[in-house]
Amino acid sequence: MLIRPYRASDEKALLTLANQVHGAGYLDKSKLEDYLQRGLAAGLNASFVAYLEGKLVGYRLSFSAEQWHADEWCNPQLWPVAASKMAYFKSVAVDPGVQGQGIGSQLLQASIEVLQQQGAEAGLAHLWMQSPGNSAVRYFTKAGGRLLAVHQDKWLALSLQSSGYDCPVCGKECHCTAAEMVLEFP
Ligand SMILES: CC(C)(COP(=O)(O)OP(=O)(O)OC[C@H]1O[C@@H](n2cnc3c(N)ncnc32)[C@H](O)[C@@H]1OP(=O)(O)O)[C@@H](O)C(=O)NCCC(=O)NCCS
Repeated sequence: MLIRPYRASDEKALLTLANQVHGAGYLDKSKLEDYLQRGLAAGLNASFVAYLEGKLVGYRLSFSAEQWHADEWCNPQLWPVAASKMAYFKSVAVDPGVQGQGIGSQLLQASIEVLQQQGAEAGLAHLWMQSPGNSAVRYFTKAGGRLLAVHQDKWLALSLQSSGYDCPVCGKECHCTAAEMVLEFP
């Protein structure tokens, strides 16, 4: 297993995996470029990929503190650290064929190390509560994540946009729920 920071040559395989796991139209080149920029700070990259036998089997995209903004799905009053010290775990996926083998957890730890070096003290995430087997919440809880709030229809507006995506659970009109969770860094 190779875990390393994202490089431009990972783009095609990462987009394929993201849209396979999260639904067609979930991620495109321009969104990916924006997400990647938000993880670059202090000369370090907080976004990682995992390779197994030469194949990209996982990715984790993370935003450095002060490189993203809290929106209506965030409750900063519940956060244990100042907004300026909060990183954001934007997106993760592991190839369904190799889920449950520790890849998602290793990607998260690699990202946390860099986010800390960049100055963050904790990371926020919106976990997909309908993910198969509730794997998303389970994996984030195992890593030390704590539930702050539950948000209904977090992705509804996004799914209905003309450039929206097909939710693997709901189809065109996504009614999935998000768990706003925080992970305090050691
Ligand atoms: C969530 C995800 C990134 C976790 O990565 P992973 O490599 O499968 O996870 P790990 O092997 O590191 O396992 C960590 C914990 O996650 C949970 N988990 C992992 N795979 C699971 C599965 N298929 N079903 C239920 N729980 C699972 C378990 O609690 C596991 O700990 P355990 O092995 O001690 O029981 C991955 O399963 C995935 O891509 N799921 C689908 C997409 C998704 O939900 N993305 C997150 C959106 S917010």
